[in-house]
Amino acid sequence: MRTAATTMLGIDVPIFAFSHCRDVVVEVSKAGGFGCLGAGYYTKEQLKEELRWIDDHIGGKPYGVDVLMPNKHVALGEVKVDLNALPQAQTLFLRKLLDDAGVPPLPPGEAEEMIRKEVTKVNMTREESEALFDVCLEHPIKMVVNALGTPSKEQIERMHSRGIKVGALVGKPEHAIRQKEAGVDMIVAQGSEAGGHTGSISSMVLWPAVIDAVGDLPVLAAGGIGRGKQMAAALALGAAGIWCGSIWLGTKQSDLLPEEKEALFRGKPEDAIQSKSRTGKPARVLRSKLTEAWEKPGAPPYLPMPLQTIVTMEARLRINRGKAISYMSPPVGQVVGQMNEETTVKQLIYDILNEFSDAVEQLNKVVEAE
Ligand SMILES: Cc1cc2nc3c(=O)[nH]c(=O)nc-3n(C[C@H](O)[C@H](O)[C@H](O)COP(=O)(O)O)c2cc1C
Repeated sequence: MRTAATTMLGIDVPIFAFSHCRDVVVEVSKAGGFGCLGAGYYTKEQLKEELRWIDDHIGGKPYGVDVLMPNKHVALGEVKVDLNALPQAQTLFLRKLLDDAGVPPLPPGEAEEMIRKEVTKVNMTREESEALFDVCLEHPIKMVVNALGTPSKEQIERMHSRGIKVGALVGKPEHAIRQKEAGVDMIVAQGSEAGGHTGSISSMVLWPAVIDAVGDLPVLAAGGIGRGKQMAAALALGAAGIWCGSIWLGTKQSDLLPEEKEALFRGKPEDAIQSKSRTGKPARVLRSKLTEAWEKPGAPPYLPMPLQTIVTMEARLRINRGKAISYMSPPVGQVVGQMNEETTVKQLIYDILNEFSDAVEQLNKVVEAE
């Protein structure tokens, strides 16, 4: 297939995968698409290790990273959080909820170390994010995608001088125009159906509006795509490719726990709800007893990012260790309703392309039919 996106990056099919999991990134790129590693939740050392592993396994195929590229407009925290001085109301609320549900507490003596280990992966300061970015530049990446704010001209030039393309996730046409003016090479227009942090405009309305707004800049369609008919719709609306995040979560290559996958396979589209319970910002996650508890009268207020992520870490570790499926709330989009059993990345791409091809044939028949 040939689109502006495949030509720009030298790939065979315009299927882009966002994933925190290196195995997914490698499989997608090896299948002819473009894997993009979500690098926001790694320490510098872990990210080095992940990218080295990708370089060793990807067979020279193109891949990218999705990283925060903070500039002065981006309100990242600037101070290290003191674990001993966190607000207590949220922690006590979650402890009681899980105690009442019979979810075992973390092993005494190890709990603090376990929580601390997870918390160090949350990049909170500008310096930490920039350090991750520097790690990425030591690897043969073909594109950096940024989901937060507009990169500065210097950051874009730094990447362009190394032959690296720059992409940006947007949820509004105005943001896309700002990104274009800053000099990015590709826009990812993410509709509100998507998993993770989202805006409020749905894909069907957002994609053509962004495509019209940015003229000849390639736009990838994101949010609510997990099968070929949806890919055909996106390309029919003028997208240069598709950018999917949720659909890979249910594959063998995904590193979610088997219980989390099970919870996803049971989920219906309406179970992917917007909730502030995970990060303090509206993010689409799987509805669970945990998200429901946060919505009930008497629940403590949500804290701003990154505090909400930090105060909920103990509960998440407890839920995962206790395999408490009905309390699991991984981020996922409305395509969760299409995810019913474990498959492989390769099979998924094959199925998407097969159905895409049928859908295009069907459309052609409609046009020819007259
Ligand atoms: C589990 C999960 C985590 C995500 N985390 C990020 C992130 O850290 N940075 C980012 O740019 N996008 C993130 N996203 C959004 C994806 O990049 C993508 O735009 C979105 O998943 C597309 O919609 P879909 O979920 O319907 O496929 C995340 C999505 C999911 C499902």
